[in-house]
Amino acid sequence: MTSTTTASSHNLLTDNPELYEARFPDPGRLAGRWAEDCLRRHGAGPRVLDMGCGTGRDAAHLHSAGRTVTGADLSEAMLTHARTHHRGPEYVRADLRGFDLGRNAFDAVVCLDSALLYCHTNALLDAFLSSCRRAVAPAGLLVAEMRNGAHFLGRTGLLDIPRVDEFAWQGTAYRSTTTLTVDRTAQLLRRTRVWTADDGSEPVEQRSAWRLLFPQELRHLLAAHGFEVLELHDGPGPRTDPPWHEGLPPGRTADADRLHVVARLVRPS
Ligand SMILES: C[S@@+](CC[C@H](N)C(=O)[O-])C[C@H]1O[C@@H](n2cnc3c(N)ncnc32)[C@H](O)[C@@H]1O
Repeated sequence: MTSTTTASSHNLLTDNPELYEARFPDPGRLAGRWAEDCLRRHGAGPRVLDMGCGTGRDAAHLHSAGRTVTGADLSEAMLTHARTHHRGPEYVRADLRGFDLGRNAFDAVVCLDSALLYCHTNALLDAFLSSCRRAVAPAGLLVAEMRNGAHFLGRTGLLDIPRVDEFAWQGTAYRSTTTLTVDRTAQLLRRTRVWTADDGSEPVEQRSAWRLLFPQELRHLLAAHGFEVLELHDGPGPRTDPPWHEGLPPGRTADADRLHVVARLVRPS
Protein backbone atom coordinates (compact mmCIF):
# COMPACT_ATOMS: atom_id res chain seq x y z
CA MET A 1 0.00 0.00 0.00
CA THR A 2 1.26 3.48 -0.80
CA SER A 3 -0.22 6.41 1.05
CA THR A 4 0.28 10.13 0.64
CA THR A 5 -0.03 12.25 3.74
CA THR A 6 0.35 15.75 5.04
CA ALA A 7 1.62 16.87 8.43
CA SER A 8 -1.89 17.19 9.73
CA SER A 9 -3.30 13.90 8.41
CA HIS A 10 -1.72 10.45 8.75
CA ASN A 11 1.98 10.50 9.45
CA LEU A 12 4.05 7.50 10.59
CA LEU A 13 5.91 9.51 13.21
CA THR A 14 3.17 11.75 14.59
CA ASP A 15 0.77 8.78 14.58
CA ASN A 16 3.34 6.78 16.62
CA PRO A 17 4.67 9.05 19.35
CA GLU A 18 6.90 6.34 20.85
CA LEU A 19 8.52 5.88 17.46
CA TYR A 20 8.86 9.67 17.16
CA GLU A 21 10.71 9.89 20.48
CA ALA A 22 12.90 6.90 19.53
CA ARG A 23 13.75 8.50 16.19
CA PHE A 24 14.37 11.97 17.62
CA PRO A 25 15.59 11.37 21.18
CA ASP A 26 16.09 14.38 23.41
CA PRO A 27 17.06 12.72 26.71
CA GLY A 28 18.64 15.89 28.09
CA ARG A 29 15.51 17.93 27.23
CA LEU A 30 17.67 20.33 25.25
CA ALA A 31 14.72 21.90 23.41
CA GLY A 32 12.77 22.41 26.63
CA ARG A 33 15.82 23.83 28.39
CA TRP A 34 16.51 26.21 25.52
CA ALA A 35 12.90 27.42 25.52
CA GLU A 36 12.98 27.87 29.31
CA ASP A 37 16.23 29.82 29.00
CA CYS A 38 14.63 32.19 26.46
CA LEU A 39 11.58 32.67 28.68
CA ARG A 40 13.69 33.32 31.76
CA ARG A 41 16.17 35.69 30.08
CA HIS A 42 13.29 37.84 28.85
CA GLY A 43 11.31 37.71 32.09
CA ALA A 44 8.25 35.81 30.88
CA GLY A 45 5.40 35.16 33.32
CA PRO A 46 4.44 31.60 34.26
CA ARG A 47 1.63 30.74 31.81
CA VAL A 48 2.98 29.06 28.67
CA LEU A 49 1.28 27.60 25.61
CA ASP A 50 3.38 25.03 23.72
CA MET A 51 1.79 25.06 20.27
CA GLY A 52 2.51 21.92 18.25
CA CYS A 53 3.60 20.24 21.48
CA GLY A 54 4.00 16.78 19.93
CA THR A 55 4.85 14.11 22.49
CA GLY A 56 4.67 16.67 25.33
CA ARG A 57 8.26 16.33 26.47
CA ASP A 58 9.06 20.04 26.06
CA ALA A 59 5.79 21.06 27.70
CA ALA A 60 6.54 18.71 30.61
CA HIS A 61 10.02 20.18 30.97
CA LEU A 62 8.58 23.70 31.17
CA HIS A 63 6.08 22.41 33.75
CA SER A 64 8.94 20.95 35.80
CA ALA A 65 10.64 24.36 35.64
CA GLY A 66 7.65 25.76 37.52
CA ARG A 67 5.48 27.03 34.68
CA THR A 68 1.77 26.53 34.15
CA VAL A 69 1.76 24.87 30.75
CA THR A 70 -0.83 24.07 28.13
CA GLY A 71 0.34 21.80 25.32
CA ALA A 72 -1.66 21.96 22.09
CA ASP A 73 -1.43 19.76 19.03
CA LEU A 74 -3.58 18.60 16.14
CA SER A 75 -2.65 14.92 16.51
CA GLU A 76 -4.86 12.92 18.88
CA ALA A 77 -2.16 10.25 19.06
CA MET A 78 0.38 12.82 20.25
CA LEU A 79 -2.05 14.26 22.80
CA THR A 80 -2.89 10.82 24.20
CA HIS A 81 0.81 10.02 24.50
CA ALA A 82 1.55 13.37 26.14
CA ARG A 83 -1.25 12.95 28.71
CA THR A 84 0.11 9.52 29.64
CA HIS A 85 3.88 9.95 29.43
CA HIS A 86 4.54 13.64 30.07
CA ARG A 87 2.15 14.60 32.83
CA GLY A 88 1.80 18.01 34.39
CA PRO A 89 0.66 20.25 31.56
CA GLU A 90 -2.91 20.41 30.35
CA TYR A 91 -3.14 19.05 26.80
CA VAL A 92 -5.72 20.31 24.31
CA ARG A 93 -6.43 19.77 20.64
CA ALA A 94 -5.94 22.94 18.61
CA ASP A 95 -4.86 23.93 15.12
CA LEU A 96 -2.01 26.41 15.14
CA ARG A 97 -3.27 27.77 11.81
CA GLY A 98 -6.00 29.63 13.73
CA PHE A 99 -6.84 28.97 17.38
CA ASP A 100 -8.65 30.66 20.26
CA LEU A 101 -7.66 29.44 23.72
CA GLY A 102 -8.74 32.66 25.43
CA ARG A 103 -7.66 36.29 25.31
CA ASN A 104 -4.53 37.15 27.35
CA ALA A 105 -4.56 33.54 28.58
CA PHE A 106 -0.77 33.08 28.35
CA ASP A 107 2.43 34.93 29.12
CA ALA A 108 4.21 33.17 26.28
CA VAL A 109 3.61 30.97 23.25
CA VAL A 110 6.35 28.47 22.41
CA CYS A 111 6.42 26.82 18.96
CA LEU A 112 9.30 24.41 18.41
CA ASP A 113 10.81 22.26 15.68
CA SER A 114 9.31 24.00 12.65
CA ALA A 115 5.68 23.57 13.72
CA LEU A 116 5.09 27.20 12.68
CA LEU A 117 6.05 26.30 9.12
CA TYR A 118 2.90 24.20 8.73
CA CYS A 119 1.39 27.61 7.99
CA HIS A 120 2.06 27.26 4.28
CA THR A 121 0.42 30.44 3.03
CA ASN A 122 0.59 34.09 4.05
CA ALA A 123 -3.03 33.86 5.17
CA LEU A 124 -2.21 30.96 7.51
CA LEU A 125 0.85 32.76 8.90
CA ASP A 126 -1.40 35.77 9.57
CA ALA A 127 -3.93 33.49 11.25
CA PHE A 128 -1.25 31.96 13.50
CA LEU A 129 0.15 35.35 14.51
CA SER A 130 -3.33 36.86 15.03
CA SER A 131 -4.13 33.90 17.29
CA CYS A 132 -0.90 34.43 19.22
CA ARG A 133 -1.63 38.14 19.57
CA ARG A 134 -5.02 37.30 21.13
CA ALA A 135 -3.62 34.51 23.33
CA VAL A 136 -0.64 36.38 24.73
CA ALA A 137 -0.99 39.01 27.45
CA PRO A 138 0.55 42.46 26.82
CA ALA A 139 4.38 42.27 26.91
CA GLY A 140 4.16 38.48 26.57
CA LEU A 141 6.54 36.48 24.41
CA LEU A 142 6.57 34.33 21.30
CA VAL A 143 9.48 31.86 21.21
CA ALA A 144 9.88 29.80 18.03
CA GLU A 145 12.48 27.53 16.48
CA MET A 146 12.33 26.27 12.90
CA ARG A 147 14.10 25.55 9.64
CA ASN A 148 15.60 28.64 8.05
CA GLY A 149 14.32 29.40 4.56
CA ALA A 150 17.39 31.55 3.88
CA HIS A 151 19.61 28.50 4.28
CA PHE A 152 18.24 27.09 1.03
CA LEU A 153 19.10 30.20 -1.01
CA GLY A 154 21.70 29.01 -3.50
CA ARG A 155 22.32 25.73 -1.67
CA THR A 156 20.92 23.47 -4.33
CA GLY A 157 23.12 20.57 -3.17
CA LEU A 158 20.64 20.00 -0.33
CA LEU A 159 17.87 19.26 -2.78
CA ASP A 160 16.67 16.49 -5.08
CA ILE A 161 19.17 13.88 -3.83
CA PRO A 162 17.61 11.00 -1.88
CA ARG A 163 19.04 10.52 1.61
CA VAL A 164 18.77 7.13 3.30
CA ASP A 165 18.45 6.72 7.07
CA GLU A 166 18.17 3.45 8.95
CA PHE A 167 17.23 2.72 12.51
CA ALA A 168 15.78 -0.10 14.60
CA TRP A 169 12.84 0.17 16.97
CA GLN A 170 11.23 -2.65 18.99
CA GLY A 171 12.90 -5.36 16.91
CA THR A 172 11.98 -3.89 13.51
CA ALA A 173 14.54 -2.32 11.17
CA TYR A 174 13.20 0.83 9.49
CA ARG A 175 14.68 2.53 6.47
CA SER A 176 13.57 5.94 5.22
CA THR A 177 14.52 7.44 1.89
CA THR A 178 14.02 11.20 1.96
CA THR A 179 14.04 13.63 -0.95
CA LEU A 180 13.71 17.38 -0.50
CA THR A 181 12.53 19.66 -3.28
CA VAL A 182 11.73 23.35 -3.33
CA ASP A 183 8.60 24.86 -4.81
CA ARG A 184 9.93 28.37 -5.37
CA THR A 185 6.60 29.84 -6.39
CA ALA A 186 4.80 28.74 -3.24
CA GLN A 187 7.96 29.13 -1.10
CA LEU A 188 7.54 25.59 0.16
CA LEU A 189 10.11 22.98 1.04
CA ARG A 190 8.55 19.68 0.06
CA ARG A 191 9.68 16.37 1.49
CA THR A 192 8.89 12.95 0.09
CA ARG A 193 9.81 10.13 2.45
CA VAL A 194 9.43 6.45 1.64
CA TRP A 195 9.42 4.12 4.65
CA THR A 196 10.28 0.45 4.44
CA ALA A 197 10.46 -1.99 7.33
CA ASP A 198 11.72 -5.55 7.59
CA ASP A 199 8.45 -6.72 9.21
CA GLY A 200 6.82 -7.61 5.89
CA SER A 201 4.76 -4.42 5.63
CA GLU A 202 4.42 -2.61 2.31
CA PRO A 203 6.41 0.60 1.72
CA VAL A 204 4.62 3.80 2.73
CA GLU A 205 5.18 7.11 0.97
CA GLN A 206 4.55 10.27 2.96
CA ARG A 207 4.63 13.83 1.75
CA SER A 208 5.12 16.86 3.96
CA ALA A 209 5.80 20.52 3.30
CA TRP A 210 7.10 23.47 5.24
CA ARG A 211 6.89 27.15 4.40
CA LEU A 212 10.28 28.58 3.43
CA LEU A 213 10.20 31.59 5.68
CA PHE A 214 13.04 34.09 5.43
CA PRO A 215 14.38 36.00 8.44
CA GLN A 216 13.41 39.45 7.15
CA GLU A 217 9.99 38.16 6.14
CA LEU A 218 9.45 36.79 9.65
CA ARG A 219 10.59 40.08 11.16
CA HIS A 220 8.08 41.96 9.00
CA LEU A 221 5.22 39.57 9.81
CA LEU A 222 5.90 39.80 13.54
CA ALA A 223 5.93 43.61 13.43
CA ALA A 224 2.67 43.62 11.46
CA HIS A 225 1.07 41.56 14.23
CA GLY A 226 2.28 43.73 17.10
CA PHE A 227 5.44 41.82 18.08
CA GLU A 228 8.86 43.40 18.56
CA VAL A 229 11.74 41.08 17.69
CA LEU A 230 14.16 40.63 20.61
CA GLU A 231 16.30 37.89 19.03
CA LEU A 232 16.43 36.44 15.52
CA HIS A 233 19.39 34.22 14.74
CA ASP A 234 20.57 30.88 13.40
CA GLY A 235 22.03 29.56 16.64
CA PRO A 236 23.12 28.22 18.91
CA GLY A 237 19.84 26.39 19.44
CA PRO A 238 18.55 22.96 20.39
CA ARG A 239 18.92 21.55 16.87
CA THR A 240 22.10 23.27 15.73
CA ASP A 241 25.53 21.70 15.37
CA PRO A 242 27.13 22.37 17.80
CA PRO A 243 24.05 22.56 19.99
CA TRP A 244 23.17 25.28 22.48
CA HIS A 245 24.03 24.90 26.14
CA GLU A 246 23.28 27.07 29.16
CA GLY A 247 25.27 30.29 29.15
CA LEU A 248 25.76 30.53 25.37
CA PRO A 249 24.43 33.85 24.07
CA PRO A 250 22.25 34.11 20.93
CA GLY A 251 24.19 34.51 17.69
CA ARG A 252 24.14 37.40 15.24
CA THR A 253 23.75 35.64 11.90
CA ALA A 254 20.71 34.10 10.19
CA ASP A 255 22.29 31.95 7.51
CA ALA A 256 22.48 28.38 8.86
CA ASP A 257 19.73 25.80 8.71
CA ARG A 258 17.81 26.70 11.89
CA LEU A 259 16.10 29.96 12.78
CA HIS A 260 15.35 31.03 16.35
CA VAL A 261 13.12 33.93 17.27
CA VAL A 262 12.05 35.58 20.49
CA ALA A 263 9.55 38.40 20.14
CA ARG A 264 7.56 40.52 22.59
CA LEU A 265 3.96 41.63 22.14
CA VAL A 266 4.22 45.43 22.25
CA ARG A 267 0.98 46.28 20.44
CA PRO A 268 -1.81 44.02 21.76
CA SER A 269 -4.90 43.65 19.58
C1 LIG B 1 8.00 18.20 14.37
S1 LIG B 1 6.73 17.95 15.55
C2 LIG B 1 7.30 18.99 16.83
C3 LIG B 1 6.87 18.47 18.14
C4 LIG B 1 7.45 19.21 19.32
N1 LIG B 1 7.12 20.63 19.30
C5 LIG B 1 8.93 18.99 19.38
O1 LIG B 1 9.67 19.96 19.17
O2 LIG B 1 9.33 17.85 19.63
C6 LIG B 1 5.44 18.85 14.87
C7 LIG B 1 4.14 18.73 15.66
O3 LIG B 1 3.23 19.65 15.10
C8 LIG B 1 1.95 19.02 15.07
N2 LIG B 1 1.16 19.71 14.07
C9 LIG B 1 1.19 19.59 12.71
N3 LIG B 1 0.31 20.43 12.14
C10 LIG B 1 -0.30 21.08 13.17
C11 LIG B 1 -1.32 22.07 13.24
N4 LIG B 1 -1.86 22.56 12.12
N5 LIG B 1 -1.72 22.52 14.45
C12 LIG B 1 -1.17 22.02 15.60
N6 LIG B 1 -0.20 21.08 15.60
C13 LIG B 1 0.23 20.62 14.41
C14 LIG B 1 2.25 17.58 14.74
O4 LIG B 1 1.16 16.74 15.14
C15 LIG B 1 3.50 17.35 15.55
O5 LIG B 1 3.21 16.86 16.84
